[in-house]
Amino acid sequence: MEKPENTENKILETGEKKKGSSVTAENVAFVRALESLKPEGERICYDPYAVRFLSQQYLMFMKMAARDPSRTPFPGVHNSLSARVRYFDDFVNRAIDNGVCQLVILGAGYDTRAYRIEGLRGKVRVFEIDHPGTQSVKMEKIKDIFGSLPDHVEYVSVDFEAGNFGQQLIEHGYEKSQKTVFIMEGLIYYLPLKTVDGILSFIAKNSGIGSAIIFDYVHESSIDRTDGICGVQCTACDQNEIKNATKDMAKQGEPYKFGIKEGMLESFLAQRGFSHACNVTSEDYKKAYFHGINESRPVCCLSYFAHAVVK
Ligand SMILES: C[S@@+](CC[C@H](N)C(=O)[O-])C[C@H]1O[C@@H](n2cnc3c(N)ncnc32)[C@H](O)[C@@H]1O
Repeated sequence: MEKPENTENKILETGEKKKGSSVTAENVAFVRALESLKPEGERICYDPYAVRFLSQQYLMFMKMAARDPSRTPFPGVHNSLSARVRYFDDFVNRAIDNGVCQLVILGAGYDTRAYRIEGLRGKVRVFEIDHPGTQSVKMEKIKDIFGSLPDHVEYVSVDFEAGNFGQQLIEHGYEKSQKTVFIMEGLIYYLPLKTVDGILSFIAKNSGIGSAIIFDYVHESSIDRTDGICGVQCTACDQNEIKNATKDMAKQGEPYKFGIKEGMLESFLAQRGFSHACNVTSEDYKKAYFHGINESRPVCCLSYFAHAVVK
């Protein structure tokens, strides 16, 4: 099949960006939608709603990649993102079994957990927090899909860099005394250290016993702070796959700003009020999820998953 001229770049650079909305949020929805086309038993994660968040250009590209998987952009990154969705889903499901009362999704983008994870509705209050530009697009789409906004979800529009997300969260009904899980998926590397510290400090001081955080992060050494591009060379990815992927994100106005020093996750979190830090590497999730037909799929070593409990 002939590759249409420059299609990948057109999607990634212009991406029919809805005014003020996050292109990286749509990129992740694209990955979930593409993975969800695979048969049950083969797919790493499943999100039946992700496709509804894609623009025409992404839809076209998804169909092309589904017909010819060799045209999946950044395959290692794609596979790692699918594993991230699965790992975070599994974490939320365990939290539900263990009696979590609230789920706060920071930088929610087009995350659809509130609508697709059984066990949340009626039991767990969900707060989705995002930049107003992305959240308004999301809310319209949710009304489109379900006819109305669901009762168990509260939408909090903030810019984390403004520094008052905690106050807004409380004003939207967040209960400080309740056991809560805070998800920061695909978020913290886009924020400056001061903002990350502000978020972690709020969580550590304002959540109930047994509350937890889950997030993904990159090593500080892998980011070039001058241009927000990551220079890690991943052995599983094509030589420059990561660099090109992060360059695209930086061009779209979402450069990498923050990383954690290699080997310092536990102390970074301990200093900020968290214990039981768990670090998950690409080898760990490859071993956990990529079996049989998926065994040869490459994963990307750029980012790590982590979770911890509020002390
Ligand atoms: C890569 S997307 C991830 C979206 C979603 N968590 C997922 O995994 O599908 C990053 C999200 O963080 C949000 N975000 C980034 N910086 C932000 C800020 N300063 N304030 C509020 N939201 C922000 C973006 O709007 C976007 O929705």
